[in-house]
Amino acid sequence: MHRPAMTQRVLTGITTTGTPHLGNYVGAIRPAIAASRQPGVESFFFLADYHALIKCDDPARIARSRVQIAATWLAAGLDASRVTFYRQSDIPETTELCWLLTCVTAKGQMNRAHAYKAAVDANGAQAEDPDAGITMGLYCYPILMAADILLFNAHRVPVGRDQVQHIEMARDVAQRFNHLFGNGRELFVLPQAEIDESVATLPGLDGRKMSKSYDNTIPLFEGGAKALKDAVARIVTDSRAPGEPKEPEGSALVTIFDAFADAASREAFRADLRAGLAWGEAKQRLVDLIEAHVGPMRERYAQLMARPQDIEDVLQEGARKARAAATPFLAELRQAVGLRSFIAADAPAAAASHKPGAALASFKQYREADGRFYFKLAAHDGRVLLQSDGFAEGREAGGWVKRLKTEGAAALAGAPVQRGEGVDEADVRDALAAIAAAQDAEKA
Ligand code: TRP
Repeated sequence: MHRPAMTQRVLTGITTTGTPHLGNYVGAIRPAIAASRQPGVESFFFLADYHALIKCDDPARIARSRVQIAATWLAAGLDASRVTFYRQSDIPETTELCWLLTCVTAKGQMNRAHAYKAAVDANGAQAEDPDAGITMGLYCYPILMAADILLFNAHRVPVGRDQVQHIEMARDVAQRFNHLFGNGRELFVLPQAEIDESVATLPGLDGRKMSKSYDNTIPLFEGGAKALKDAVARIVTDSRAPGEPKEPEGSALVTIFDAFADAASREAFRADLRAGLAWGEAKQRLVDLIEAHVGPMRERYAQLMARPQDIEDVLQEGARKARAAATPFLAELRQAVGLRSFIAADAPAAAASHKPGAALASFKQYREADGRFYFKLAAHDGRVLLQSDGFAEGREAGGWVKRLKTEGAAALAGAPVQRGEGVDEADVRDALAAIAAAQDAEKA
């Protein structure tokens, strides 16, 4: 596999409706946690609770699902100190960015969003008004999702196939925004959808994809070992009697078994079925296998659910981490669209960026052959923005550099410096503000 040298930011959201089932665990939670442990990856996982409001107007259910899903990810082994794990609704920058994006999103493109179109089609089939029961939340769902992704400049977004169109829309709107407001810079990284082909979708009790909407799920933790056993008992099999050879391939029972078994046990399970293992016994083996895997997690889950304050603390810390990046970035975006301070010197940097490796200007101090001390402010491309006079003492040069770094453009008046050729004052001001913003972000 091609492995880029740069740190890749991977981000995904989990809509907080409902209670996680085994299919969510195998198809999303487990691979996401495994991926977050890889080197060179910076992971952002968040509870998409604003998105949940689009689908659900039952406050108690929203509240319950958020804490359950948070506890599930932690119990499944998510290391919150390694990743940024937060609630979407704890990041006000998300809704703020959502509006900036809404203003550059083509309505026609939202008309073509699958989820919205499906709702319109369903209304048509019932001879209803096309927009009956459709909220602006549903209509604008992809813009909110784009805000989630672009706010953190995620490179990769692991999602299910049904979400690929949304990532494409996020790319489009990012491109448009870059074009309109980037002034030649890429304000937003263009995100890429990532579908893990190696993760099989888990079949449900009836053999179709395990999904709450098919009512064919196996609960992950809810109801304990008993609920697990009861659900497995309901997996549909053929009617071959004990002793009769059974075809393992294509059986939902075997596919679910595979999701938890190593290669040797998979082989053995198949061989035993072909040799006539009874379905009842095969189901018991499956229960034991899942229980060995899920049992310890279920215990951690129960402990976490008994201490919601601990979960709250973890998510607050995640929000703090997330906002350390989001707040300065949003300041930059406001600047880019023209929502600027009236006092130019106070304006945050147009060129500031929280993006790792973003090109910042920098100060250089040096001594010339004349024995005097100098400094200059050089843009990332080497262009000289400011050139100082010569000082007798190195300390003097250092003092001015420090003032310019901390006070920014305000320190320019009276500073013994000249602008480089063809450099205008705004360039210098932006560069200084960017340096100050980067310093602030470092301190935060
Ligand atoms: N819409 C996604 C889903 O239902 C959840 C989601 C919200 C999301 N925001 C996101 C996924 C941002 C990836 C990135 O699965």
